[in-house]
Amino acid sequence: MSIADTFRNGTVFVTGSTGFLGKILTEKLLRSCDVKCIAILVRGKYGVPASERAANIFKQSIFDRLRFESPDFVTKIKTIDGHIDKQSLDISTDDCDWLIKNVNFVFHCAATVKFNETLDMATKINIQGTENVLELGAKMNYLKGFVYVSTAYSHCPRSEIKEEFYHVSISAKELKKIIELDEETRNVLKDWPNTYIFTKALSENMISTNENKLPISVFRPSIIGCTQSEPEPGWMDNVQGFVYLINSCMLGILRAIPMSLDKKADIVPIDYAANALISVMWDTVNRYQDDNEKKKKPKIYNYVSSFDSPVHWRMFLKYIYETYHQAPPFQSIWYLFCIFSDNCWFISIMRFFLHRIPAALVDLSLIIRGKNTKMLKMYKKQERIVDSLELFLTSEWKFDNSNTRKLWALLSQEDRKTFWFGFEEFDWKSYTQTMVYGIRKNILQEDLNNITRALSKNRKLFWLHQLCTFLIIYIVFQICWMFVL
Ligand SMILES: NC(=O)c1ccc[n+]([C@@H]2O[C@H](COP(=O)([O-])OP(=O)(O)OC[C@H]3O[C@@H](n4cnc5c(N)ncnc54)[C@H](OP(=O)(O)O)[C@@H]3O)[C@@H](O)[C@H]2O)c1
Repeated sequence: MSIADTFRNGTVFVTGSTGFLGKILTEKLLRSCDVKCIAILVRGKYGVPASERAANIFKQSIFDRLRFESPDFVTKIKTIDGHIDKQSLDISTDDCDWLIKNVNFVFHCAATVKFNETLDMATKINIQGTENVLELGAKMNYLKGFVYVSTAYSHCPRSEIKEEFYHVSISAKELKKIIELDEETRNVLKDWPNTYIFTKALSENMISTNENKLPISVFRPSIIGCTQSEPEPGWMDNVQGFVYLINSCMLGILRAIPMSLDKKADIVPIDYAANALISVMWDTVNRYQDDNEKKKKPKIYNYVSSFDSPVHWRMFLKYIYETYHQAPPFQSIWYLFCIFSDNCWFISIMRFFLHRIPAALVDLSLIIRGKNTKMLKMYKKQERIVDSLELFLTSEWKFDNSNTRKLWALLSQEDRKTFWFGFEEFDWKSYTQTMVYGIRKNILQEDLNNITRALSKNRKLFWLHQLCTFLIIYIVFQICWMFVL
């Protein structure tokens, strides 16, 4: 059966549908698979009820193509008001009964992806939340497949990451007990870079035992970037992770970044990731037709680009620079000038000269004009975010993606056309171009009409930058000269 046929008239349950991946997944399922219904779990937030949040999401431009192709697509969406971290997802009895009686496919994408999340909250959302969704899945009468979205970095303390479950020194149950008893949790993290990765690793271990004997798989994408082509090129809606970094560089804010230019940048476009995720569900449903499969450990799919189409940060940034020079953002505060190094001392010194001193000067001028200071505060925040990414910018991993490559080989030509996720001969130059224009449009809200003005401003910023560089060299030279004499 083709992928679309597998989903035809089926009912899908998606968690995390208001997030980056969840939106593209929902859009693609509605556009390319003739599903009967998609139930999305949405929580009320900041006083906005779940139903209103869901309705607002489907008005966004990312659903324009779907709106054009299937104007009544919203009739296929059922919003379930709930929180994954609360008991029984905090959903109404009616909704719970409906899910149990109707759902065939579960995509569990919801998570807290904040690297600096408290261990307590990350445990509640990523571990307890996953346990709650698994429990609900176990009750579903007609469940054909369940895919848990993890991350390729869930075991990043290892240098080689195969499509295997790895042992973690503490179990999810033990961690929850420690947190409940309010015991010392500081040492629990040990080798783990942050609470997000740690709780993702523990959730995977919880799934490895598959106590509920679910037809389940684990999908592990690496860093997810903007869309390559679908439903439109360059779409992204959150300034997280490396997009934050590129955006800040393009605006001329960040000038010293900890990064090993010779390490591989493992990035996957979000539309490719959604297609791979749907294909993993298709494979899961097919595999579990055989009841013996439930006795085995669930299958893991590492979804990475570095195996088939490696690109190093040096090349990736070179392409970004090339497009930047064709279409710089109008909002830039300075000309793009960035120093990259994996030497943390050097970066700290450079940050002092290139971030702190200019920021202090701007703040001083604001004080003189009787305004509130902001630049030093902004740099502190920017540097904290970049520091949380440092491990992923200065290291590389050897990923094995055999299961994903076998899955790609299984796809028919027709399915490949609709659910493309292969990386052979991936054109990084064109993708980075798409990314720069995507940042301009979706993050900075700048349209193409302002390019002439932006280029003219950029030329002025360039000469200002050259002038400052010349003055700094001149002053340093004069000071040295004074001491020599
Ligand atoms: N983005 C990446 O680069 C990347 C890479 C590898 C793996 N992943 C994985 O992909 C999945 C999706 O990531 P993303 O980038 O789409 O993250 P995201 O944009 O932050 O979305 C997270 C989603 O989870 C929902 N959520 C969080 N806590 C919840 C709760 N207590 N109850 C109900 N819903 C809750 C959020 O809902 P609200 O809108 O209500 O907050 C949102 O819809 C995650 O599992 C992540 O680990 C992401």
